[in-house]
Amino acid sequence: MNLAPLITVLGIHHVGIVVADLDTATEAYRRLGFRLLETVEMPEQGVRIAAFAAGRNCLELLTPLDTESGVARFLAARGDGVHHVAYAVPNLAAALRQLDAAGYELIDREPRVGLHGWRVAFIHPRSCHGVLTELVEVAPASE
Ligand code: CO
Repeated sequence: MNLAPLITVLGIHHVGIVVADLDTATEAYRRLGFRLLETVEMPEQGVRIAAFAAGRNCLELLTPLDTESGVARFLAARGDGVHHVAYAVPNLAAALRQLDAAGYELIDREPRVGLHGWRVAFIHPRSCHGVLTELVEVAPASE
């Protein structure tokens, strides 16, 4: 079995948590010590996101804007909880080609623009042992 890594993972970039009540959750995480960076709506994904920082890492609280989005269905099925984990990678397009060739089930086969203009892509939970996995492109020098 070939266990050579397919891609380079530089670290955990952020964790995404789905919540029903964004204001209450924002208050709870601020009191936990996270610094609120901004709250933004991403209508094309049907979510409102509160982005926080703690040290070099980030936390996203997501709440659905409608009842149809993936986040809405996740919330309806499971309630509040961890929705995805995002890892920092240096070259996202190349990473996706590598993973695709190796049989990983990609939700995004090409990078797309996410929160803050980040280039991101998602890997299906079926390929990551039940965890919706996001890859975020970062400049290698910044890590
Ligand atoms: Co995310």
